Amino acid sequence: VLKAVCPKPFLNVLDGKRQSVPPVWLMRQAGRYLPEYRELRAKTESVLDLCFSPKLAAEVTLQPIRRFNFDAAILFSDILVIPHALGRRVRFVTGEGPQLDPISEPSIVAKMRDKADRTILAPIYETIALVKAKLPAQVGFLGFCGAPWTVATYMIAGEGTPDQAPARLFAYRYPESFAQLIDILVDASVEYLTTQFKAGVDAVQIFDTWAGVLPPDEFVRWSVVPTERIINGVRREHPGARVIGFPRGAGTMLENYVGALKLNAVGLDWMIDREFARECIQSRVAVQGNLDPLALVAGGAALDREVDAVLEAFSSGLFVFNLGHGILPQTPLEHVERMLKRVRGA
Ligand code: CP3
Repeated sequence: VLKAVCPKPFLNVLDGKRQSVPPVWLMRQAGRYLPEYRELRAKTESVLDLCFSPKLAAEVTLQPIRRFNFDAAILFSDILVIPHALGRRVRFVTGEGPQLDPISEPSIVAKMRDKADRTILAPIYETIALVKAKLPAQVGFLGFCGAPWTVATYMIAGEGTPDQAPARLFAYRYPESFAQLIDILVDASVEYLTTQFKAGVDAVQIFDTWAGVLPPDEFVRWSVVPTERIINGVRREHPGARVIGFPRGAGTMLENYVGALKLNAVGLDWMIDREFARECIQSRVAVQGNLDPLALVAGGAALDREVDAVLEAFSSGLFVFNLGHGILPQTPLEHVERMLKRVRGA
């Protein structure tokens, strides 16, 4: 029997086939470090408008592919479209990040809409179809959502905070209400990701940006278990659905995370001990990431040294080259070129 060979290196790694040159893409690659993004963004009111304008969002998704020939494109959207579709109005204030009406007590959760409004999310699925029609054959297409814990931190605080104290406090004070909020987010995320697959993405990433602020038991309860429920829900409809988990800051709790979840890959932040990650994590599942976004800002010898250290640690196993968190707006384009040359020439 002839087995079809997948021409997409990124998907090959997710499917357990090591690539001699690791595929590479960058978290937040469609964004403010690109002049062509800033130009297009200047013509729109807000990030949310951009997320809900299929033609523009498709264009922004493709911009980094054209410029850098990355091995994966990530859908241009935001994790906060889900609270928006749940009726919690989201505003992005330039320079200040997202703002939502905060959730100060359980009655607000009890009265909250318990299903995302499909009509609000419909333009995002249209974006997926537009991108899919234009994407080069070798480029993988990644959808995403925020993990319930991370999305809940923004919903409760009503803004970004450094240590997510409002959400942690709410979860201790009102565990039943918090569980109810997490349930709503699990259901909305299952439907959201399932529909993304239907529309044409090859894989999805679940961003748990604030996983690392939770103590270990709470991490299992609010990060691992809800993520597991999302994965199971999505695979009920799409059995082979490829999923990448990214619990930023999880440290040694990563062992629990990859042990409990059937992932195709796990994202590594830049803080993790590389030897631990290779021995205890990459031995069980493909890994993605790890380059410090600030090394990419710095460039030069520091960048070369960090790129080499990441490749040295992980390129002998299943590996997708990426940053340990999103690319920073002040990153010079030449540094991205330099990094790509080093990864692809290595
Ligand atoms: O290339 C891509 O990844 C584009 C798609 C994308 C965006 N946001 C667009 C965006 C993705 C995958 C995200 C994920 C996201 N959004 C996360 C998880 C990943 C991470 O970086 O931690 C989180 C926590 C958010 C919430 C969010 N959205 C914040 C806190 C902010 C403001 C500060 C910031 O990080 O930029 C946003 C706005 C946002 N989302 C921008 C973009 C390109 C910048 C807005 C602009 O154009 O002014």
